[in-house]
Amino acid sequence: MRILLLTHSFNSLSQRLYCALAERGHLLSVEFDIADAVTEEAVALFRPDLIIAPYLRRAIPASIWSRHCCLIVHPGIVGDRGPAALDWAISERRPEWGVTVLQAEAEMDAGPVWAEERFALPAARKSSVYRNEVTEAALRAVLTAVDRFQGGVFTPRRVPGQAHAAMRQTDRAIDWQAMTTADALARLDAADGMPGVADELFGQPCRLFDAWPEAALKGPPGSLLGRRETAILRATADGAIWLGHVRREEGINGGLKLPATLAFAEAAALPELPLSGWWRSPAATWQDIAYEEADGVGFLSFAFYNGAMSTGQCRRLSEAFRWASGRPTRVIVLSGGPDFWSNGIHLNSIEAAESPADESWANINAIDDLAEAILRCASQLTVAAVGGNAGAGGCFLARAADRVWVRDGVMLNPHYRNVGNLHGSEFWTYLLPPRVGAEGARAIMRRRLPMTAAEAVALGFYDACLATPGFAGEVARRAAELAAAPDFAEQLAVKNARRAADEVEKPLAAWRAEELAEMRRNFYGFDPSYHVARHHFVRRSPHSWTPRHLARHRDLDWKPPR
Ligand code: COA
Repeated sequence: MRILLLTHSFNSLSQRLYCALAERGHLLSVEFDIADAVTEEAVALFRPDLIIAPYLRRAIPASIWSRHCCLIVHPGIVGDRGPAALDWAISERRPEWGVTVLQAEAEMDAGPVWAEERFALPAARKSSVYRNEVTEAALRAVLTAVDRFQGGVFTPRRVPGQAHAAMRQTDRAIDWQAMTTADALARLDAADGMPGVADELFGQPCRLFDAWPEAALKGPPGSLLGRRETAILRATADGAIWLGHVRREEGINGGLKLPATLAFAEAAALPELPLSGWWRSPAATWQDIAYEEADGVGFLSFAFYNGAMSTGQCRRLSEAFRWASGRPTRVIVLSGGPDFWSNGIHLNSIEAAESPADESWANINAIDDLAEAILRCASQLTVAAVGGNAGAGGCFLARAADRVWVRDGVMLNPHYRNVGNLHGSEFWTYLLPPRVGAEGARAIMRRRLPMTAAEAVALGFYDACLATPGFAGEVARRAAELAAAPDFAEQLAVKNARRAADEVEKPLAAWRAEELAEMRRNFYGFDPSYHVARHHFVRRSPHSWTPRHLARHRDLDWKPPR
């Protein structure tokens, strides 16, 4: 079938559906929901058999739904209607939630139901639930609905429903004097990563994001107890919550969502509450980098918000990695975070810097230092366990490890072109050709479409694709097996000999210098594409057109089907 994805943006859920439907042989095209007239034009050009709307912020015009079957992905159970479905479910800490695929009609979310999938709702952030449970359920529900539509005999049923109200900031408000950590956390989780909870810090209005519970530290409810790295600790009625990110109101800091201590210079006066090392704290607290060990394997996780890695985070992670490589282990697993493995350099921190060009330069050097530390590790075999999505430099940073094992539901965007045609670094010019060939490397860098985990393995870019259920357990089992392998010493010797031979042929420093010369042009050269693209990316500027590589029906050689 010809399927048009009509969506507010090509977010990870839309990407997942796009790849899965294309894999099943459907012809896909994408149109961003910009204006009714533009959507009508796209439909006229593409003449879709079916329209799917994975992520919309407004209703589909009657001119379209009255003539074409439009399937809406609603992140709620059957009968649930209206905006902020997930926000309500999370703030009420419902034990179960779901995704419904329904047909667009005049009344929002009230059309006949084509499919529904349910899942156990974890006590997690909305952004995380969306990228994990919702995405998996939406994929199953959409595939069922598409099969039913194509089968031609299924009659979608009408279901009575209840429309809930939009969630207002007053519904989200936190009374720090009276609310427990659990209750405040439910509200903060329900508002992450959009729109955040409207509140005040240091007497200034701001939106709060990225909340972590604290199990040990307490203080007078509502007071700010201290800071750790980039987070601020605030007391609740029975404990405290770490606030990792904030967006200040009234255009301060360009309206950017930033690490809390970067957004508020006043935070420097708060007492520092450091952790004593890299070991994972046994009790809940703010800890972005955490280390654990079992069966001769060290597991280094890094839960950086949105997978963005600032200069400071890259430096701290390099330090943790060097420390981990001094441990008496045989394998180091780089586990990333639960939602993202890495999305490369931190575009928001860069945007907020006095000189974005200088900060870009510092950040790319810091991430390259980390990649280099992984590449030069001679004492252990290294594994990147990519359990969360990865984009741009993050995809290539993973390749610096000796093995890359990726979870089958992960979406990869291994290209730099979408943010202003960056050349990219992280040693991709050294790492890619031996795996995928010179032409394969060029093809990966040219492509702008997302890549599935299975595709990455089929191309030779990554090494193994592991099933979603039990991913962490399977990574641990395989890593322990690697550490216990009878030929472990030989495997390590082979890796070190290869690295030494490569170094003689062309030193890492030379690969790096060549890549960075190109990046220097991107950051400081005449062409401002990167700075312009970053400006729009970090401000989430609305799209004004759909890129040609997505809107196939806008290709110059597109022939409308008869
Ligand atoms: N720096 C700062 N923030 C980043 C980021 C980065 N490198 N990559 C992603 N984010 C943020 C987004 O701004 C968004 O923030 P918000 O929702 O909290 O406001 C959040 O992460 C999720 O991103 P989104 O684009 O909605 O997620 P996605 O899963 O749909 O798409 C990517 C993932 C990787 C395709 C997309 O985020 C992207 O292109 N990122 C930029 C990668 C990049 O160019 N890095 C720099 C070069 S190394």
